[in-house]
Amino acid sequence: MIHRSYEFTHALCRAPARSVTEGLRASDRGDPDPDLFASQHAAYVDALRDAGCRVTVLGRDEAFPDSVFIEDPALVLNGVAIALRPGAPSRLGEAAALRPALKGHCRDVVDLETEGHVDGGDILCTDDRVLIGLSARTDAQGAEDLRPLVAAQGYRLEVLRTQPEILHFKTESALLDAQTVLATPALAASGAFAGLRVIETAPGEEASANAIRVNGVVMLAAGYPETADRLVRAGYEVVTLDMSQAALVDGGLSCMSLRYAL
Ligand code: GLY
Repeated sequence: MIHRSYEFTHALCRAPARSVTEGLRASDRGDPDPDLFASQHAAYVDALRDAGCRVTVLGRDEAFPDSVFIEDPALVLNGVAIALRPGAPSRLGEAAALRPALKGHCRDVVDLETEGHVDGGDILCTDDRVLIGLSARTDAQGAEDLRPLVAAQGYRLEVLRTQPEILHFKTESALLDAQTVLATPALAASGAFAGLRVIETAPGEEASANAIRVNGVVMLAAGYPETADRLVRAGYEVVTLDMSQAALVDGGLSCMSLRYAL
């Protein structure tokens, strides 16, 4: 069966480590509360299940404070996992730590062999393309070395230059359907989405761009009513989730799961 880029049968998540208080962040607005983070994560997992995914939640990995952001060390295309090479030194080991779970849940696992780096948060997949944004975490070498692995799965890789201040490409964008993305006005203006329809986040609601389309619903962080309204008026069913704790360590909806179809 052919699955479109927003149709998923499965998701892998990892419970937030208590050490998430040591998670990376660009600016310090206080540490996340591990208990509150755990309850928000549980609600997120429930929402993925409600959207039709069979979800496996891996145990906490205290060695890696950012390991709840399981999307960054891997990419799954056609059920085949690519173990990536995260760009933050404290996160480099997450790919090896995740590999046994990828082996157990995906059709196959291949490793990105590179001297460079790629974070999954910089990758946005359409039905036939893999858009990869260069960032402080993802470099040109890593992107070029990813190209043949992506091509082997029938996708065309396009490398994009985005504004330097964003953490990840998907911090500021999300696929909504095969022709449409949600993006901040700044990223939309970069020309990254030629050929796609762009719905822009509302003024002051740029953080809402880290959303996910999962089967019939768009999951959006709570607290962005104007953007939610734009999506509803465009015909999407929107589910909002409290992401306050993930946001304290620069995390969002996309990075908390590896979504795939088998
Ligand atoms: N704290 C998430 C990251 O910086 O990768």
